[in-house]
Amino acid sequence: MAMNYSEKVMDHFTNPRNVGEIEGCSGCGTVGNAVCGDIMRIYLDIDDQNIIRDAKFKTFGCGAAIATSSMATELIKGKTVQQALEVTNKAVMDALDGLPPVKIHCSLLAEEAIHAALWDYAEKNGITIEGLEKPVSDISEHEHLEVVSDEEDL
Ligand code: FES
Repeated sequence: MAMNYSEKVMDHFTNPRNVGEIEGCSGCGTVGNAVCGDIMRIYLDIDDQNIIRDAKFKTFGCGAAIATSSMATELIKGKTVQQALEVTNKAVMDALDGLPPVKIHCSLLAEEAIHAALWDYAEKNGITIEGLEKPVSDISEHEHLEVVSDEEDL
């Protein structure tokens, strides 16, 4: 096998945290990538202090997409909606001790799915979350740009 995954990626892939759904979620969002065909859905339970009490996911995708959704949901639990916005794909990758460059787009799916769920929450409650832009439903639309800028960081 040519690809090297960190122990943390392997751990979250083989033993993913927070798999499932939240019925009557405060916010849920689905994003996909038309290029690889992978789909990720994130469910949030948010209390009236804007704190994320629980997060769950369902991912129909590659191992890296499963590992990043697992880690992303772990990272946003207990955070405020504002703090959850700081959980970027880079933060998720760092928490997983990195991903191979060809798998960076999988972590973008996790970032965008969080944004989509937060967007849904904001819409349901008629609020604006500062710094949150309308998410795309297909990350392959802007994947190229972000992957290039991420690789410059390496
Ligand atoms: Fe598409 Fe990983 S290969 S999300």
